Amino acid sequence: MNLSMKDKILQHFLQSKGEPISGQQLADELGISRTAIWKHLQTLQEEGYEFITIKKKGYQLVAAPDRVDAAKISSFLNTKRFGYSIHYFEEIDSTQTVAQKLARQGAEDGTVIIAEEQTGGKGRMQRIWHSAKGKGIWMTVIIRPNILPHQAPQLTLVAAVSVVMAMKSLYRNFTPEIKWPNDILINGKKCAGILTEMLAEMDRVDGLLIGIGINTNHELDDFPEEIQSIATSIAIEEKRKVDRAELVAEILKNLEHYTDEYVANGFTSIKSLWEEHSGTIGKRIKASTIRETIEGQAIGITDEGVLEILLDDGQVKKVYSADIEIQN
Ligand code: BTN
Repeated sequence: MNLSMKDKILQHFLQSKGEPISGQQLADELGISRTAIWKHLQTLQEEGYEFITIKKKGYQLVAAPDRVDAAKISSFLNTKRFGYSIHYFEEIDSTQTVAQKLARQGAEDGTVIIAEEQTGGKGRMQRIWHSAKGKGIWMTVIIRPNILPHQAPQLTLVAAVSVVMAMKSLYRNFTPEIKWPNDILINGKKCAGILTEMLAEMDRVDGLLIGIGINTNHELDDFPEEIQSIATSIAIEEKRKVDRAELVAEILKNLEHYTDEYVANGFTSIKSLWEEHSGTIGKRIKASTIRETIEGQAIGITDEGVLEILLDDGQVKKVYSADIEIQN
């Protein structure tokens, strides 16, 4: 894991779950002097962490700022590869842009780019993605599965399953649903979206940039007025603020697991999970593709992840990419 010394120290405190740690023990374990430890603690205090000194026991972390930095995420991390390299930013235009650069420079499978705030967050279809400071999860995961370019859209569905399963394992007060292909809705309102971009040659995928945006700790007022009636957050639905770093770690665990499963056994291994959590199948929908707008009943997805719509005249249409409006 590419943690700085300061982050390594912080990770020890986060993992000690509020127990004091002796400065000497920390210095011995990390191979640096006690003075160096003290200096790093000063820097952490300046960043908002609060420590107290307990006689004969050492330092105790008593308050931590609400951040999704590498140390905080790695204190929850339970993966084999994903999240071992985390690039954290207070503010950035878009994590996709940084990811693109890092992927071209050879960043490893499972590299994470995450920010507290995006000033130019990108949604699908050239839309703006509102990324308020400290409220959400704005991250891109670089993955390098051994797949062909035409399979790439299926990874969006794999990512959607990973996000939904993470929400289901951590929260109890709501049921998230996937709106094909990439939206996560709660009670009919959008809580999360996924934007998958690809670095590829004609016959080879070099890497995929899985951009995940989750409205996490927003109150309704934190959304721009024009989307307040269609957007929601985990905090609104769960009725409490949640730990963003914990959710990031859970998503990374699922994304690693389901991507590996997909690469080993194909999309059929993920399809049933996707269908189980779909809020689209069985509903009457309007699908706007680049060429046309069609209406009908969403009857399923194929083994390739393509949406099938039963039109009123009995024809079944396959839709590879579209904007979907659910009508009932
Ligand atoms: C959508 O529903 O339109 C997809 C939204 C994807 C937003 C995420 S936030 C992290 C990553 N960086 C971006 O600029 N966009 C994606």
